[in-house]
Amino acid sequence: MSGRTFAPRVFSGIKPSGGLTLGNYLGAIKRWVAMQEEDYETIYCVVDLHAVTVWQDPADLHRSTHEVAAAMLASGIDPERSILFNQSQVPAHAELGWLFNCVARVGWMNRMTQFKEKAGKNAEKQSLGLYAYPSLMAADILLYHATHVPVGEDQKQHVELTRDIAQKFNHDYGVEFFPMPEPVIEGPAMRVMNLRDGSKKMSKSGESDMERINMLDDADTIAKKFKKARTDPEPLPSDVAGLADRPEARNLVEIYAGLADTTPEAVLAEFGGAGWGTFKPALAELAVEKLAPISTEMQRLLDAPDEIDRLLARGAERAETIAKPILEQTFDIMGFVRSRR
Ligand code: AMP
Ligand code: TRP
Repeated sequence: MSGRTFAPRVFSGIKPSGGLTLGNYLGAIKRWVAMQEEDYETIYCVVDLHAVTVWQDPADLHRSTHEVAAAMLASGIDPERSILFNQSQVPAHAELGWLFNCVARVGWMNRMTQFKEKAGKNAEKQSLGLYAYPSLMAADILLYHATHVPVGEDQKQHVELTRDIAQKFNHDYGVEFFPMPEPVIEGPAMRVMNLRDGSKKMSKSGESDMERINMLDDADTIAKKFKKARTDPEPLPSDVAGLADRPEARNLVEIYAGLADTTPEAVLAEFGGAGWGTFKPALAELAVEKLAPISTEMQRLLDAPDEIDRLLARGAERAETIAKPILEQTFDIMGFVRSRR
């Protein structure tokens, strides 16, 4: 392929399904804010159509949509500089998602580890949407010809599948229409682990609240959760090699580095040799310092849902001005009759 160039454009999204965690903040939102300052056009989405791949109580979906939007705004996403909207208000996502269901292969979906993990032994009972969801995610990204996708480590495979879909479409229709988007997974805490079990990802849906830090947790709760976080009895090592077989220790060091905007090496240069009685309170204090202003602003915004709704509506209109022409060109390439235009 000769290599059409695409303007640098970022797309990323978070599902409104339950509360937001420190994993969402460090793995996604914090870096989205930073990317606004760089040479990208930035588009951020509350991906509500993805949330309903598992059951969502309607009132909870509504509230979570506001909460995710509030978290993005409170963390520093600027709704003028970035396009911020919720997915279901731009119907082109679902339309391109369908077209991509017809490009992606069943064998590709069968390799998706997230589906296997989520579905477990109950794959037959999952919604068809949960199985097909990576092709909707590909549509989210490619509908904007996005070139860069900042996500946590768990989403890498889905961005690779997006590239496979783009490539197959371009090849099958003999065009250079969709870009090959790059996952952007940089920094320490790209896979924040569960505080009670260092082998599992910190997630919104884990059974115990003690295993995660929620963005809306108050200072006492944050301190208590770090205090009770599982660790081993050894003091902190003085270099990262010493974290190799210590997943819980590594996780807390990475969280510290992510929050402090530094590296695990620098954290260990400061805390190497210290015990947990020193490190955990320092970590809790840092987390509160970073999260408290965000959660205060989130609460303020959540008390003004009309303001959020207005911003999302405006963001959806702006998103649609990019998405619609790309969808129409896709229909044209595929040979659909579009005589209503
Ligand atoms: P989700 O909450 O599944 O919609 O995820 C939204 C974004 O947060 C994605 O970019 C995920 O990769 C990221 N994310 C979620 N949980 C974690 C975690 N424990 N560590 C790092 N990133 C995460
Ligand atoms: N699948 C992502 C997650 O579960 C959310 C998501 C949906 C997304 N569409 C996206 C992320 C497009 C980046 C780009 O975390």
